Order: sequence, then structure tokens, then C-alpha cells
Amino acid sequence: MLTEMKREQLTEFYTECEKEYESYKSLNLKLDMSRGKPGADQLDITMPIMDILISPGDMIASDGSDTRNYGLLTGIPEARELFGGLLGCKADEIIIGGNSSLSLMYDSVSRAMSHGVLGSERPWNKEEKVKFLCPVPGYDRHFAVCEHFGIEMITVPMKSDGPDMDEVERLVSEDAQIKGIWCVPLYSNPEGIVYSDEAVRRFANLSPKAPDFRIFWDNAYCVHHLTDKPHRILNILEECKKAGKADMVYIFASSSKISFPGAGVAVLAASAENIKAVTAHLAIQTICFDKVNQLRHVKFFMNTDGIKSHMEKHRAILAPKFRTVLDILDNQLSEFGILEWNKPDGGYFISVNTLSGCAKRVVSLCKEAGVIMTSAGATFPYGNDPEDRNIRIAPTFPPLDELKTAMNLFCLCVKLASAEKLIHNS
Ligand SMILES: Cc1ncc(COP(=O)(O)O)c(C=O)c1O
Repeated sequence: MLTEMKREQLTEFYTECEKEYESYKSLNLKLDMSRGKPGADQLDITMPIMDILISPGDMIASDGSDTRNYGLLTGIPEARELFGGLLGCKADEIIIGGNSSLSLMYDSVSRAMSHGVLGSERPWNKEEKVKFLCPVPGYDRHFAVCEHFGIEMITVPMKSDGPDMDEVERLVSEDAQIKGIWCVPLYSNPEGIVYSDEAVRRFANLSPKAPDFRIFWDNAYCVHHLTDKPHRILNILEECKKAGKADMVYIFASSSKISFPGAGVAVLAASAENIKAVTAHLAIQTICFDKVNQLRHVKFFMNTDGIKSHMEKHRAILAPKFRTVLDILDNQLSEFGILEWNKPDGGYFISVNTLSGCAKRVVSLCKEAGVIMTSAGATFPYGNDPEDRNIRIAPTFPPLDELKTAMNLFCLCVKLASAEKLIHNS
């Protein structure tokens, strides 16, 4: 245990690590471990989707409409059915949007600010203040949306089975300025946490003081399993209906990490009433989304089983990468007691916690030696991790050999930063 070493031992340890670090620097590495993107080999497995729509006859949707033309604002019927099936929702509870669920989330917040949501007394931006609950650590782009609209973020700790629900219940029931909460319920970003049935039920039974409160349920990793025993979460829309609060949730998902990020399809699922209200706004914003791409996706995947078997191919590529990262962390750091990490069963990230006050230093040491990690602090609102501990590792994009090099360097930087801190404190 590094934390139990005397000053002289620590200094000796530090000097050894420093020598190794200098030799890494001389390699002039240029590796990027910062974003959760699929690797090129993952993108290749979806290439046959490009050969599906060839002749004019291929372009016709199940209701007879020509997908090349205007129309069907909420999506072609078979796409609404396919993605509805995946999320356990009916076709009339689905809008197939453009190419990005983040943009659907951004638009949902933007609309709420400018016009309110179904049941709002006034647009949110006419309130004195709007606040969102943000379970932490969480997804930086959720926090960026709030910051962009001047929405105040209140952090809520994550537990091993979802956000601290006592805290969520207390806060939403006391403060009418709290209008929303961000959730990634299955394989959360970055910790890979799966919300328990109890947590989902407690969400559905929230009694917010704000009558127009919304749960932003970002089910980005709904089929992104890393093991052969997929986790399941309860259907939040069903649970909200049972609780008589069908309108309280917006569900988001996309095929970004099923087919192609930026060239997939995105989904908003919600009560039929919410869908009607959102559609009325969308009708001003656009005449329709890219239905050709929707049809291409339906013809390629056919049904939910088609999506699930496609995800097996992704898993075959991703599981060894996650294993590699976890093995390196285990082999290099478990004896020192200077880093904690999770072992996710799905999703795109591994989340680690350093000793207090070391995360920024680790990321900057990595950068100096040519490896870019996600900025320390990014997993907290305003980039402010109060303990400076959390770092998000994204193992998916680099090829395996680069991943190994980057992780070996990362472990070395954790040792260096921890030893520096302990020497300083001794
Ligand atoms: C939790 C979460 N939601 C949404 C997204 C972005 O999804 P999309 O590509 O559909 O905009 C990501 C991407 O990393 C994510 O991690």
C-alpha cells in the first residue's frame, strides 16, 4: 500500500516511476482516450446497411409513402414500431428524430425554456430560476446543455443501484424550481451503473413540487451489453403510467452506437399526449426527418432480435478491450491502494477514482506524455469535481495495442501523481 509507505520509501518509488515516465515521453506518443466513440472495426460491421436501398422501389415505406419525399414528421410506421419495440413503447409513443439523441435532448430543453412543456403554466425561462438535478458522476454533455441554457445544476450522489433516491425525492418535492433530472439508467455514463427496479419505481412515483417536472431518461446504452447476461431495467413509461404520471418522463435513445454515430437514427419516447405536444412544435421546426435512413435501418435490422444479434458483434470487439483495461488496472495498481475502479457489464466507459486531489494531475501527466484522457472534472457539472478524483476512461476507440500502451502509461501517471501527493502530505 502506497498510503502506508514512509517518506524515504515513497521518494524511492517516485524516482523509479519518474525514470519510466521519461522513457515513455521519448516515445512521442499521440493517443486519444478521451471520447466514447466506436472503433473503425465496429463501424465496418454495419457497412452492409449501405447496400440496401438501391432502386426507387426500395424507397417505399409500409404505409405506401415514398421515403424520399416530405411527410411523416414523427417517422415511418415501421421505424416507430421497431424502436418502440426496443424500448417497450407503442408506436404512437415514439418520434423518430434526426441523427442524434443529444440533439433531441437539447431541443426538448430548449422548447421547455422557450414554450414550456405539456402542463407548464409558463415557459421555463419565465420562471425566476430553473434547476436540474444531476446525478454525479455523469455525462458531460447533459451538463453542458444545462449550462448553455443557464439552468442551475444540483448534484445528487450516485449509489450502486442508481441515484440517491432519498435525496432526489426530498429535493424535487421541496423545490418548485427543480424542473428536471438527467438519468442514464442502464450502464450509466461513466460508471456503468444499472438502476434497480426499486430506483425506477421511485422515479415513477416522484411527487415533484413543479407540476411540469420531467425526467430526462437517456437510455443511450439500452442494448449495449458487455457480458452474455444482459441487465434489464424496468420500463419507466409503464411505471409512470401505473403511478398516474405518464407525462413525467421523456425517454431518449439512438442507434449511434448500434449503426453509425452521426448517421444513425434517434428516438424520443413518451406518453402519447407528450408526443402530440412535442409534434406540434416540431411541425414548425421541420417538415420531416431523414426517412430514407429510417427505412435503411429497419430493412437492415428487421426486428429487435436483429438489433440484438448485431450488438453481439459489437460485444465481440468491445469486451476484449474492456477486459484489457481492467486487467492492466488490476495487475499494475491493485497492490497500491491508490485507485478504485468499476467493472461495468455494459456501456462505453470505465470510471476510476484516484486519491483526493490527484485526478487533474494524472490527466495532465498523461497529456505531457502524449495520451489525451477526458478532462478531469468533466463528469461533474461546471467541470468541478469537488474532490478532484474522478476520471472517465473510454476504451472503445483505440486499437488494442494502443489501448495497452495508453493504459500502462495511465497507471504510471496514477503512481506518480499519488506518490507526489503523499510525499507532499508526509
Ligand atoms: C449517455 C449518452 N447519451 C447520449 C449520447 C450521444 O448520443 P447521440 O449520438 O444519439 O447524440 C452519448 C454519447 O456518448 C452518451 O454517452
